[in-house]
Amino acid sequence: MISTRIAGIGFQVPANVITNTDLIKFMDTSNEWIIERTGIEQRRYVSAGEGTSDLATAAAHKAIAMAGIDVSEIDFIICATISSDYFFPGSAFQVQANLGLADIGAFDIKVACSGFVYGLSIADQYIKTGQYKNILLIGAEVQSNALNLTTEGRDMAVLFGDGAGAVILQPSDGESLIYSTHLHADGRHLKDLWGEVPACNQKPHISHEMLDQGRQYPKMNGREVFRNALKRFPAVILEAMEKNNLTRDDITLIIPHQANLRITQAVAKRLELSMDKVYSNIHKYGNTTAASIPIAMAEALAEGKFKRGDNLVLASFGAGFSWGSAAIKF
Ligand code: COA
Repeated sequence: MISTRIAGIGFQVPANVITNTDLIKFMDTSNEWIIERTGIEQRRYVSAGEGTSDLATAAAHKAIAMAGIDVSEIDFIICATISSDYFFPGSAFQVQANLGLADIGAFDIKVACSGFVYGLSIADQYIKTGQYKNILLIGAEVQSNALNLTTEGRDMAVLFGDGAGAVILQPSDGESLIYSTHLHADGRHLKDLWGEVPACNQKPHISHEMLDQGRQYPKMNGREVFRNALKRFPAVILEAMEKNNLTRDDITLIIPHQANLRITQAVAKRLELSMDKVYSNIHKYGNTTAASIPIAMAEALAEGKFKRGDNLVLASFGAGFSWGSAAIKF
């Protein structure tokens, strides 16, 4: 049976740093409130005209370089994003064109914060069956353009940032591999974290009335998200560990989706893990949705937090609700 390995990884964030103090210009909030509730100190926002596909393409080039392959060897592209540049088609097609790769298959998946883990699982199946040999998987988001940057939208606005992370997935060399992936969802919570408009069940999809009502902005039931995240993150991490008989000592690093430092700390506590085993870089980038895990993974690798041969568990929770994990020998 063929297994899958991560051959290369890279990330890209926009140059524009937005501190908590910068947000005070737009809304009634404070640096103390944001840090205390979320751990976020700053995030990155794109400049005018910069889109998800631009960040995705830049991250892809870095992952390709680390994998040591030629761009032309990529045979499939998956882009996990809820913020494709256009309503349709997805960003994967722009990335394909940007990389000069006509003809190979490409698609987007829209699983929000769990998009990267879902994408990893999909790519893993393609590699295992021998269908593809160099899959480019990207998690990329531009959230800043979607947020309500006023006091009314402050609960969400302070949380999110822009960025992209990418990996190249290949058949395993025997040394590195994805042990298993675990995917879950509970659609009953769909409206606890969602973006309603443009809405294809409405005619027209978007109207002046909808815009006046602010229905184009994402909405969140923060407490319900928090409560479920605290339940689902530990469960899905344990599921990955138990499936592969991995003990806490076997794992070098857990890389959770960067939702909120308080969530990450509470998950570590529930799993009886010290925070040096649970990676966090949310203070720098906020929550970058589908991009957060590959950004965190690329940064943790660059910081020497893990190396080839180490065991990792990636874990996600977000809109849907959807959650998932992947146990990996990097
Ligand atoms: N700045 C200042 N005050 C804010 C604020 C902000 N950015 N956002 C909300 N508040 C206010 C609220 O209006 C409320 O005021 P009130 O008591 O006068 O009504 C007060 O702070 C407390 O709000 P509450 O919603 O009870 O705060 P909380 O302790 O639940 O924290 C979150 C809010 C959003 C930080 C928290 O619910 C959370 O982290 N949820 C999970 C979010 C998440 O991770 N989402 C992404 C998942 S992928």
